[in-house]
Amino acid sequence: MRRDDKGVMGDDSAGLYPADIVTYLWSRFSRYTVFLLCLLPLARLFALGLGHGLGVNPIEFVTRSLGTWTLSLLLITLAITPLRRLTGDGRWLRYRRMLGLFAFSYGVLHLTAYLWLDQFFDWMAIFKDLYKRPFITAGMAALLMLAPLALTSNDRSVRVLKRNWLRLHRLVYPAAICGVLHYYWLVKQDVTLPVIYAAVLAVLLGVRLWWRRQKQATKKAG
Ligand code: HEM
Repeated sequence: MRRDDKGVMGDDSAGLYPADIVTYLWSRFSRYTVFLLCLLPLARLFALGLGHGLGVNPIEFVTRSLGTWTLSLLLITLAITPLRRLTGDGRWLRYRRMLGLFAFSYGVLHLTAYLWLDQFFDWMAIFKDLYKRPFITAGMAALLMLAPLALTSNDRSVRVLKRNWLRLHRLVYPAAICGVLHYYWLVKQDVTLPVIYAAVLAVLLGVRLWWRRQKQATKKAG
């Protein structure tokens, strides 16, 4: 073993460096790591529940936490394409489908918490909410738009739907906009957090628009 001029330990005979090992391990196990990371918010809720740590209003705590993670994972999913383009590294795409499916799954759990824990499946009250409270309508619209994307996220659907798959998956943009509106409308006083989410979404959608304009301009010029 020796230490080279960059301070990296290495084995002359094998030519193997710790950095190489980390890169290898990450490339091999990163998907599992991302998978486990996505499960952490749920595990945290279970742990808090078991330890009576969900606060004075556990239903609100659970519903809100699941909602926050639905939106956060949706925005992280939308960040993958810009990250791929900015870094020139296609490996980012390995996590996109999983992140999108986790966003949807958290959304389904969020809805379940609302229907079951909050409304006790009182369908009259739920329909009233849907009609009278615009933030519920926006949340429902967001989840309904995410549903076909989750259902067609498999390789077979990509093959069968061809170009229509890309068209269908553009629904993720209005879904994210409805998710942010849902959050903004439900907050009664301090809108700082929903505005931060809205700003992140604006950047993620803005770069896409900008790249699209650039592509059209080069097409016209060429
Ligand atoms: C399926 C329909 C949905 C229903 C019925 C619903 C309902 C709710 C309810 C009742 C709350 C708590 C409101 C309060 O405590 O005053 C909430 C919070 C929230 N929901 Fe939803 N939601 C839905 C879908 C979504 C979706 C798809 C997203 C994300 C894309 C989302 C993101 C959020 C966020 C970020 C919060 C606030 C969390 C916080 O206060 O920290 N919801 N939702």
